[in-house]
Amino acid sequence: MIEEIIDIQMLSDFEKGLDPRHPERSNIPATIIGYGEMSTIFEINRSSLENYAFKRMPIFRSTEEIDYYEILYREYNRLINDDIDIRIPECAAVRVIPNEGNIVLYLIQQKLPAQSICDRVIKVLDDNSIGELVIFILREMKKVFEFNASGGNITIGFDGQISNWAIKDYDGSGPPHIDEDTQFYYIDTSTPLMSKEGIEMLNPDLFLRSAPSFMIWLIKWFFLKGVMTRYYDFHLVTVDLIANFYKEQRADLIPSLIDRVNRFFEEEAQKLGTIPITQKEVLSYYREDALIWSLYLNLRKLDRFIHSKILRKPYVYILPGKIKR
Ligand SMILES: Nc1ncnc2c1ncn2[C@@H]1O[C@H](COP(=O)(O)OP(=O)(O)OP(=O)(O)O)[C@@H](O)[C@H]1O
Ligand SMILES: [Mg+2]
Repeated sequence: MIEEIIDIQMLSDFEKGLDPRHPERSNIPATIIGYGEMSTIFEINRSSLENYAFKRMPIFRSTEEIDYYEILYREYNRLINDDIDIRIPECAAVRVIPNEGNIVLYLIQQKLPAQSICDRVIKVLDDNSIGELVIFILREMKKVFEFNASGGNITIGFDGQISNWAIKDYDGSGPPHIDEDTQFYYIDTSTPLMSKEGIEMLNPDLFLRSAPSFMIWLIKWFFLKGVMTRYYDFHLVTVDLIANFYKEQRADLIPSLIDRVNRFFEEEAQKLGTIPITQKEVLSYYREDALIWSLYLNLRKLDRFIHSKILRKPYVYILPGKIKR
């Protein structure tokens, strides 16, 4: 258990001296190692913390909210690892009380080599191996959607994008080799979407907290309609995975990937009855998604500007830099 070995004093010192705008200039410097749509992953440059990747969540307004989130987070990780049989890196959640503002929850994961994360892996694989990689990832995801279809009272929301997967036990030296025996890690477990008896357990408001107040109406419309539900749908989760190849500048691979994926749906995942994917929907999904997320990020930057330059109040979130699409 990493909870027991993590240097909590050091983490709390890190929080005290954090510069969210320039994490690398904090008293204890942090180096950003990854961006998602919503959050930032970093390492903390101290030897006692060097083996871990950190995600900082300053969004909770009460201990009850953290308690509830943590229960979901642990249950989600447990279900994925034990019941669904998809490997996740060792993880922990640690609370830190900052100088001012909300209690901060740090989600901590064993740090994996950057070269093992699959958006990096596809940069070095040949085209055929990329196709195989996508099918192996689909095989992992199939377990989730089979679990969801198995008639239990819990269903799991899952975000299968390419950057959420890593090659397990690959240390990054030499070219990665992908075959039937390759094992994967699923790393993006901080959005524990879970529905019980058809009711979503995760409070979507939590993820609106870091959004500028002037645009909550826009995101509410976007989130509640689209984002929350699409992670429960194998077809849509796979459209998202394929659309990543636009973002990764490999649109040329998309037609052949769609062929492979549709064959997979028909031959290997027949029981799930997943609707085949078309090129048209992948393209329009990508366009809409890219537009929405870049709009969202720009409005958050505007919000940061308003907080720090006009209202002269602290802005507590670490925002991603430019995301190439
Ligand atoms: N344990 C880890 N070791 C190394 N790199 C990591 C680790 N966890 C995350 N990363 C890097 O950070 C990126 C984003 O991480 P992750 O997918 O967990 O967050 P996210 O996409 O921001 O999540 P969300 O969009 O749900 O907020 C990953 O694609 C990866 O490059
Ligand atoms: Mg991610």
